[in-house]
Amino acid sequence: MKNFNYNIPTQIFFGEGKIEVLGKEIKKYGSRVLLAYGGGSIKKNGIYDDVVKELKENDVEYFELSGIEPNPRVESVEKGVEISRENDIDFILAVGGGSTIDCAKAIAAAFYYDGNPWDLVIGKAEIGKVLPLASVLTLAATGSEMDAGAVISNLETNQKYGFGHPDFFPKFSILDPSYTYTVGEYQTASGVADIMSHTFESYFSNEKGAYIQDKIAEGILDTCIKYGPLALKEPDNYEARANLMWASSLAINGLIGYGKDSVWSVHPLEHELSAYYDITHGVGLAILTPHWMEHVLNEDNLYKFVEYGVNVWKIDSGLSDLEIAKLAIEKTAEFFHNLGIPMTLKEVGINEEKLEIMAKAVTDHNEGFVGNFKSLNYDDVLEIFKSSL
Ligand code: NZQ
Ligand code: ZN
Repeated sequence: MKNFNYNIPTQIFFGEGKIEVLGKEIKKYGSRVLLAYGGGSIKKNGIYDDVVKELKENDVEYFELSGIEPNPRVESVEKGVEISRENDIDFILAVGGGSTIDCAKAIAAAFYYDGNPWDLVIGKAEIGKVLPLASVLTLAATGSEMDAGAVISNLETNQKYGFGHPDFFPKFSILDPSYTYTVGEYQTASGVADIMSHTFESYFSNEKGAYIQDKIAEGILDTCIKYGPLALKEPDNYEARANLMWASSLAINGLIGYGKDSVWSVHPLEHELSAYYDITHGVGLAILTPHWMEHVLNEDNLYKFVEYGVNVWKIDSGLSDLEIAKLAIEKTAEFFHNLGIPMTLKEVGINEEKLEIMAKAVTDHNEGFVGNFKSLNYDDVLEIFKSSL
């Protein structure tokens, strides 16, 4: 196990009715709030009313930024900065899924930067001060509620990049599983795929001594396999939504990544698909993952796929190692398919046309090689894209 410094500063208020802490918690940090949300789901399901009631009862002044898109655009960040400056905002509250929370993080940094916020995303300018922020999570998926990353898209340049800063950790996040009852089948399934992919990105590493991290990772995968289908069948099953919600946070908050030096593989590839075709993140991951697994499987890492197959999918350990590995990959694809996720690029509107451009863009952005479980060069990436068609 490699050395690491544990630091997960986000305070979590988990469970039904936890919105009651909102006003009191915000007041520890500020009193003029930017209330950021997406395309209106929170108005339909009543979460907006709950939030506003808490703000009003606690005399917190708020100003709204609505319409944050899935795969949030840099233009929304600019709009948020403008509203925040005009109204002397000192705190940002994101109410939504990963897109809203990511946009809030970018606004929090860009608030103190005079140039175009995109400079901060691409690292052209350094992040200085960051406004304090918090989230009320409404979708179990990205883990943005408990991590220090944000992903912003620029559809004009077909770029979608992640960036981060220690001050991007929300000060607190409210995780009420009942707030995810209204998440539709497609987004629920996509969220499960995203949680599993975050777990794979840490689990499939060459570090052999991080046993405890791998056991936690297997537990998260097992949780998704048990509760993903149940949440689809019974959208208001509290136990299913609660387990998925906590899995969302644990998969990416550092817990399973500490002690390893994992450089992610499938996420950078998916971000190209979203950047060019604006597809749903988790769906892109589900499509690519089995093909990535098949592509990277070799004699050196076979043992890891055997561990995965036997411990997560309970495959008979009496089979040959290669049989177990292949079966584990098949089961992964079958699981996503059974969640109702389209499992080919063509089904989400992606054809051969831009595969080479995307393969070049992602390898260029990563100095020639993507990931480090088995580093992928341009040809590897292109092959994975082609086999995913
Ligand atoms: O916009 P609204 O109306 O809120 O509707 C959203 C949106 O249409 C809807 N939704 C959310 N909560 C709902 C709900 N509908 C009904 N009931 C609810 N309770 O779901 C749709 C998708 O929302 P979005 O926030 O886009 O989904 P997600 O949480 O999957 O976020 C995806 C974004 O996060 C990035 C992705 O790349 C993508 O841009 N990621 C962020 C990460 C991070 N910060 O650490 C890591 C991830 O790997 C990921 O890259
Ligand atoms: Zn993800």
